[in-house]
Amino acid sequence: MPETITITDDRTGKQITVPITDGVFPASAVRELDPSLYIYDPAYMQTAACKSSITYLDGENGILRYRGYPIEQLASKSTYLEVAYLLLNGELPDAAQLAMWKHEVTNHTYIHENMRKRFVDGFHYDAHPMGMFVSSLAALGTFYNDAKDIDDKASRDKQILRLIAKTPTLASMAYRFSAGLPFVYPDNDLSFPGNFLNMMWKIGEYNIDPRLERAMDVLFILHADHEQNCGTTAMRVVGSSHADPYTSAAAAASALYGPLHGGANEAVVRMLTDIGHIDNVPAFIEEVKGGKGSRLMGFGHRVYKNYDPRATIIKKTAYDVFEVTGKNPLLDIALKLEETALSDPYFVDRKLYPNVDFYSGLIYQAMGFPVSMFTVLFAIPRTVGWLAHWQELLADKDQKISRPRQWYTGVEARDYIPMTSR
Ligand code: SDX
Repeated sequence: MPETITITDDRTGKQITVPITDGVFPASAVRELDPSLYIYDPAYMQTAACKSSITYLDGENGILRYRGYPIEQLASKSTYLEVAYLLLNGELPDAAQLAMWKHEVTNHTYIHENMRKRFVDGFHYDAHPMGMFVSSLAALGTFYNDAKDIDDKASRDKQILRLIAKTPTLASMAYRFSAGLPFVYPDNDLSFPGNFLNMMWKIGEYNIDPRLERAMDVLFILHADHEQNCGTTAMRVVGSSHADPYTSAAAAASALYGPLHGGANEAVVRMLTDIGHIDNVPAFIEEVKGGKGSRLMGFGHRVYKNYDPRATIIKKTAYDVFEVTGKNPLLDIALKLEETALSDPYFVDRKLYPNVDFYSGLIYQAMGFPVSMFTVLFAIPRTVGWLAHWQELLADKDQKISRPRQWYTGVEARDYIPMTSR
């Protein structure tokens, strides 16, 4: 069967036949037919905006692979720093490369004292940590004017290293400020997740439980990248203007902040808390189906029309964490919600399954993180995904500044009427 598509413009009888490669055909075919024609595709539902070799998703079968490696294998066998190296470089590091990468990241975790003493102190006492985190990313870029040299690989690599290394420090700084606690400096003798937990929780003596340290690492792995999601698309769009990576990452984090995207993990726990008891689940489900109140947060996905493979792993990780922290009482409500929804035609017919955010918040809450920190916990690891796509965009000869057109539905030309005549 020919792997081509033929488009005919019935107005002129003109035809164009173009190849279909991996389920994609070039929109330039439309330009060849008639350059004044545009494809109307709100929210890019049917658009492949770029070529990418970083992450592969199969929504129908619930498959997620980073550079070809199944997420299940990476979550059980790898570490976030090793996965970050893989996403950025395309291959797993050898022992020497990993040791050097860990050394580099570990020794770039500090932030300028002005970020800590002047910038963060300027926030209102009850500022949302994610709002602080988004602002800190852009502010961080002002300390590194070489970040604008985006055509210089050495400069790009240095900014990538700084952003990966410093996001846990920015995140913990936002939390400590909002909790009225003194800032904890990075401890370069600790692992990446261990250092983050230490900066978050250290008051006097703080012993990192290895089971929580591993759970944090697994959660960082699972959230590291996810193809052309809303936040990564924002990174690519802003990055296409050749803005520096800190500013582009601030745009990506801003998109992630939305409750339909990375803000969903916070919304799930607030939803479970509002439901309050498993006996209230049936009534809540009926409300969702009736379009009243909120959606079933943590359910549904633009790509996955099956169980999000990350949700499966997170659900298992929850039990590991609860062994240390004790079971989160909201788990029973979440399990009942899942059981009820997955047997209800409203959700089954719309292929709505638990996504990455449905169970992650239960773990974060059990680990002591306030709900307002949940999206920040998503943003820390997703920074490497944004940066992997940013460097891929800059190297892609097909790419240029993003500038889509529109379907104009406004009024036709008309003359200005002076106020005296209106
Ligand atoms: C993330 O893109 C990514 O990869 C994102 C992410 C990543 O790693 O970067 O995976 C992370 O953002 C996960 C998604 C987190 N968001 C939520 O959990 C919020 C709740 N879910 C949704 O609002 C929704 O499912 C989206 C936003 C995730 C996807 O929405 P779509 O693909 O635009 O689907 P839609 O809004 O067009 O819904 C299709 C139908 C509609 O019903 P009808 O109008 O056809 O009758 O399904 C319904 C929707 O009303 N629907 C839901 C629902 N999600 C969709 N109904 C109830 N509860 C829900 N959660």
